[in-house]
Amino acid sequence: ERLPGLLRAMPKAELHIHIEGSLEPEMIFALAQRNGVPLPYASVEELRRAYAFTDLQSFLDIYYAGASVLLHEQDFYDMARAYLARAAMDNVAHAEIFFDPQTHTARGVHIETVINGLHRACADARSSHGLSASLILCFLRHLSEEDALATLEQALPLLDRIVGVGLDSSERGHPPEKFARVFERCRALGLHVVAHAGEEGPPAYIWSALDVLQAERIDHGVQAVHDPALMRRLADERIPLTVCPLSNLKLCVFPRLADHNLLQLLEAGLAVTVNSDDPAYFGGYVNDNFTQLFAAVPALTARHAYQLAWNSFEASFAAEADKRAWH
Ligand code: HPA
Ligand code: ZN
Repeated sequence: ERLPGLLRAMPKAELHIHIEGSLEPEMIFALAQRNGVPLPYASVEELRRAYAFTDLQSFLDIYYAGASVLLHEQDFYDMARAYLARAAMDNVAHAEIFFDPQTHTARGVHIETVINGLHRACADARSSHGLSASLILCFLRHLSEEDALATLEQALPLLDRIVGVGLDSSERGHPPEKFARVFERCRALGLHVVAHAGEEGPPAYIWSALDVLQAERIDHGVQAVHDPALMRRLADERIPLTVCPLSNLKLCVFPRLADHNLLQLLEAGLAVTVNSDDPAYFGGYVNDNFTQLFAAVPALTARHAYQLAWNSFEASFAAEADKRAWH
């Protein structure tokens, strides 16, 4: 079969990857041992068996528990190094990496420890793999806007190491407008702005991510299909959606990959991209997302593959000169 080979070989940008979600069970156990952090699981196998999710929240509970082994700058460096080496194998030429500082600062880890470790790994990926990587700081939406503002304050001396901000964690009950002021502040600081919206939540959350937060990209966004006016807006303004097929499958957003609506979004003219979200938890890195989706949806062709790869560079915050080189 030529199509899987093409999907794996084509250069691509990954724009929706939570670095804490790249922490493989083996590394969780290694870091737990290195740092003397107790784990409520006896073995790698037992931990992996707990990865049976019914919705977003059932995943987040285990994902935050896994992140508790991260304490030192070297831990954050090692985690990001491993992801970037794995991404290079998937022919990822550019990655924009989400991280959740509040998950770590709440445990007493300083924000510089987090950002410096991740940033050093991104810098080294350029020399080791020819891969450009940048960081997007995500605010946890289940926490207050005051907590997000305090986090932004802590990050101010390190803003040259961040390309933008995002919004993640528990979606339902935490609409984007809850974070209007902190996002306004971020935009005034010249940061790019993205937000998770319409993963499990309603199309109204996508509207407010666009209108209130002025998000430049929507992370997930698959619920947009239920609102024709929103679909027209996303297509007309070419607002990218960073879609994560295996994540949507594992968190039961769609019952089967064959039921995924990515083709429908693409055919409606939306700037769709394919991404891994939390590859260590959802059973695959970005190329697995491409190959498994294309295998499940036979109407997806090489033409769609090229379009998705093109969209990923177009949707990125990379310098225009770099974008032209990749195109
Ligand atoms: N949605 C919301 N928050 C997250 C996700 C996600 O898919 N992954 C990691 N944090
Ligand atoms: Zn995500």
